[in-house]
Amino acid sequence: MSDLKSARGQSVRLKDVAMVFDGFTAVQSTDLTIEAGEFFSILGPSGCGKTTLLRIVSGFQAATSGAVEIGGRPVDHLAANRRPTAMIFQNLALFPLMSVWENIAFGLAARGIGKREQRTRAEELLALVALEGQADKRPAQLSGGQRQRVAVARALAVEPSVLCLDEPLSALDLKLRQHMRAELRAIQKRTGVTFIYITHDQGEALSMSDRLAVMNAGRIEQVGAASDIYDRPATPFVASFVGEQNVFRGRVAEVRDNMAYVEGIEGRFLGRNVSGLKTGDAAMLLVRPERTGLVNGGPAPGNLIEARIERRELEGPYLNIVARGRGERSIVLHLANDGRVVDTNGSARIGFACEDALVMADDAEALSAAQVDD
Ligand SMILES: Nc1ncnc2c1ncn2[C@@H]1O[C@H](COP(=O)(O)OP(=O)(O)OP(=O)(O)O)[C@@H](O)[C@H]1O
Ligand SMILES: [Mg+2]
Repeated sequence: MSDLKSARGQSVRLKDVAMVFDGFTAVQSTDLTIEAGEFFSILGPSGCGKTTLLRIVSGFQAATSGAVEIGGRPVDHLAANRRPTAMIFQNLALFPLMSVWENIAFGLAARGIGKREQRTRAEELLALVALEGQADKRPAQLSGGQRQRVAVARALAVEPSVLCLDEPLSALDLKLRQHMRAELRAIQKRTGVTFIYITHDQGEALSMSDRLAVMNAGRIEQVGAASDIYDRPATPFVASFVGEQNVFRGRVAEVRDNMAYVEGIEGRFLGRNVSGLKTGDAAMLLVRPERTGLVNGGPAPGNLIEARIERRELEGPYLNIVARGRGERSIVLHLANDGRVVDTNGSARIGFACEDALVMADDAEALSAAQVDD
């Protein structure tokens, strides 16, 4: 175990890294620093370049241009097996005919470490991933979550400073995935190894990471802590890809201090003018379903919509309401399930605070990349 503890994480720096495949730019020029010992996630839709970026860090892919430094040292000239990195691949495969401990020790054999020592190290790693006593099983005799932990142990066996994980939980069911989030986070904390974690599951990225990068079409659009990304999204894509949004499109009717009125078919709403739009600009106003409520008497919030409730869906602790105002697009509300009765087909006043609404440049392309219905 002493060896593991000394296997400290190292920083990773990408300088102007880009990847072009036969004229197709998979990764646009990227500058990024990941701190030593950080749990850093890369979140983005399928095909946005996440795996390519990770392969460049771990040396399985040479970048078209730019440079990679690990622990402050250039590694571009080093092959994957000479870098202080290990990678867990998107379609991880354990060796089915080898026992669990032999799977873990696989990388140690290649380093000329003797059988006895291999077994000892494998046992230590099994303890680290809470799988004591499973050394002699075959992978097929383990659950999906246990197999993932064996894969993590195998990757940690070679004492990497940086562990690259490419969607390691995607094959697991929801409950197990949520459990494994906590496990992986604990393993990362215990070892101090830098984790670079790829996912297209936002819950995973938001809950596990010290910081995350949100990627779209080969470009990192924002890097920050979960709260920065969720509450202060920098671009229309980040705003609509991470979490859900109600989107009201229109034009800026008036700008007042840091706020702007957006006027469209649904009405005239006031929100935070985060991108500094001017009167007349094509705009969209975004407000999250959980920041949108039903107004029954009491002080009215800044923005109101007269709407008709079309559907209600009970999702355990939440009550989701789908309503429609004057526009084509439905308006979604996520309310805490406090036992209230909400009539469908009734009319309702929907309200949201101006502070909770973001005004951004109208960007149909970003909405469609984030798969928001238009
Ligand atoms: N070796 C290659 N040759 C040509 N194109 C490639 C190659 N590898 C990746 N690409 C392309 O680069 C883009 C990014 O691929 P990448 O595998 O990095 O996406 P991803 O974000 O990991 O997606 P997913 O979430 O589906 O795994 C895709 O359009 C892909 O088709
Ligand atoms: Mg991928």
